[in-house]
Parts: sequence; structure tokens; C-alpha cells
Amino acid sequence: MNLDIYKECLHYQYKIKKKSAFFQEFPIFIRQKLLGKFEIPYIEFFITTECNLKCEHCSNLIPFIEKKEHIAFSEFKLDLDVLLSKIDRLYRLKLHGGEVFLHPELCEMVNYADSLKKIKSIRVATNGTVIPSEKVLKVLAASKAVVQISDYPAFSGKAEKIAELFRMYGVKYVKLTGQKWRDMGEIKKRETNRFKSCSITRCTSLYRGKIYVCSRAAMMEELGCHFYDGIDIASDKRTLRRDILRIYNGEHCKACFYCDGDTDFAEEIPAGKQLL
Ligand SMILES: C[S@@+](CC[C@H](N)C(=O)[O-])C[C@H]1O[C@@H](n2cnc3c(N)ncnc32)[C@H](O)[C@@H]1O
Ligand code: SF4
Ligand code: SF4
Repeated sequence: MNLDIYKECLHYQYKIKKKSAFFQEFPIFIRQKLLGKFEIPYIEFFITTECNLKCEHCSNLIPFIEKKEHIAFSEFKLDLDVLLSKIDRLYRLKLHGGEVFLHPELCEMVNYADSLKKIKSIRVATNGTVIPSEKVLKVLAASKAVVQISDYPAFSGKAEKIAELFRMYGVKYVKLTGQKWRDMGEIKKRETNRFKSCSITRCTSLYRGKIYVCSRAAMMEELGCHFYDGIDIASDKRTLRRDILRIYNGEHCKACFYCDGDTDFAEEIPAGKQLL
């Protein structure tokens, strides 16, 4: 799947504001096609590898990461600043992990991302099993962030309790239902690269100063695979922009040889089954 940046940005723009098609499309067309602005649709910022669950088929391979860590707010801020200094707009930033509500500096992260003009929308992904503190609830409610609650059948009572708290505090949220998971398989080489058929290639992920085709690819690197797929956000602006386009075109995706992704090669499985 090659990413058409213009169409993908438009996709997020439509989710942000409900204006007529003309007023949505015209400004993006002018900025990107006529003024040559470099805008990117989506980045998942991997803020923690800590998680309270152990999902057997976690797409992010979290149960298999030995040294679990939170990314410090200072590192988060620095990486966002570096990335944003080299692009003109980011339509959606997603904070995820691991479990974001275990992160002790989540408030600082949400507040900071919310203050940045180049970031047009923010999602915070939770597994729906950790009750956020009152401080976190208030910060979320005051920001433009929308929380995305996963729904794992075994824990749906907890997810509903969290949704109730969100309603009480005025936190914007979406609750996923009927999630279909895929068994993305072992990390071993396939005959073909799955990039072209995987929908997750749209989920570029920023982890430890590098952008990967997806969060699973980032975690494969963390597990010591050394595909060296990640592109360095510290590169100069021209190089970084070129490399981001290369990711979208499938030129930094050796990881996709070692994964079945969200494709027909991967069997559909129930969401959130826990390891014993
Ligand atoms: C990896 S999780 C990280 C955020 C959070 N810990 C959670 O579970 O929601 C991000 C999203 O990927 C989904 N996911 C995880 N493993 C998956 C799989 N094998 N197939 C499809 N989706 C998966 C989760 O349900 C969640 O919506
Ligand atoms: S899917 Fe989410 S909740 Fe489950 S192990 Fe992975 S990061 Fe944790
Ligand atoms: S095939 Fe695997 S590594 Fe490649 S984008 Fe899809 S999920 Fe990520």
C-alpha cells in the first residue's frame, strides 16, 4: 500500500472539522500542491513499553519486551520539537504504548502536544483497564485529545467504568467495539514482503528518535532484530522529508518480511486473549 499523503491528510482533516468538502479540500490542496508545504497525516508516539496486560498476540509485541520503560517527558518534548521543526503540519498524533495510563508524565505530554499549533488532532490509546487519576482526567478534558478505548471482552466492565468517568469529567472519547485482531505470526522471514497488503503501514511510529513504518517494526528493533528500518529524525530537513516519503513508499520496511501484519496472510483471532 503506497500512501497518498494528500488523501490521507484529507481523511484526518474530515475527522477534525465538519465543514463542506470545498473548505476542507481547498486549503490542503493550496498548501501541499501549490505552496509545497510538507504535511504528514499521522504519527504514533510510543510513550511506554510498560503494560498491565499480556495480550498473547499484541501487535506491538509488548509482552515480549524484557526491559519495560517509560519515555521521559523531556525526551518526548525534544523528539516532538525536532520532528515538528522539519515538517509543516501533523494531522494526527497518537500517544500509545504499552498502556498510557501507567505513564507518570502523561499530563505533561498531553498538555505539551496540545499547545503545539502544528499538531491538528491528538488521540490517546488505552486498553481500558487502568483507571486514570483525577489529574489526568482534568488535563484530558481541557485538551483537544480524544481517548480511544480498546474493548477486550474479558475486561469490558472496566472499560465501561472508564467511559463513565470520561463522561463525568467531559473527556472526549471513542470506544472501540467488535475489534478484529490478527495473528501476525512469529518474527521469521516470509517469502514475500507484506508491506503492500498491510493496512498498518499507515501507522508510522516514532520511537526513541526514529520513525518506523509501524509500532510493531519499532518493537522488532527493540527486540534486537536490527533491520535498521528506522529513519533518524535528527537528519537534516531535506533528508528526513525524503526518508519519510520512502517509508510511505515501502522503502524502509524490512520488518514487513518478518510479519504477516493486518493482511489475509494472518488469521483472524479474538481480541485481547491473555498469555497464561
Ligand atoms: C497495540 S495497542 C496499544 C494501546 C493499548 N495498549 C491498547 O491495547 O489499546 C493499539 C491498538 O492495536 C490493537 N491491537 C493489538 N494487537 C492487535 C492485533 N494482533 N491485531 C489487531 N489489532 C491489534 C489494540 O486493540 C489497540 O486498539
Ligand atoms: S495490546 Fe495493548 S494492552 Fe495488550 S499487551 Fe499490547 S499494549 Fe498491552
Ligand atoms: S506487515 Fe507487519 S511490520 Fe509491516 S507494516 Fe504491517 S504490521 Fe507493520
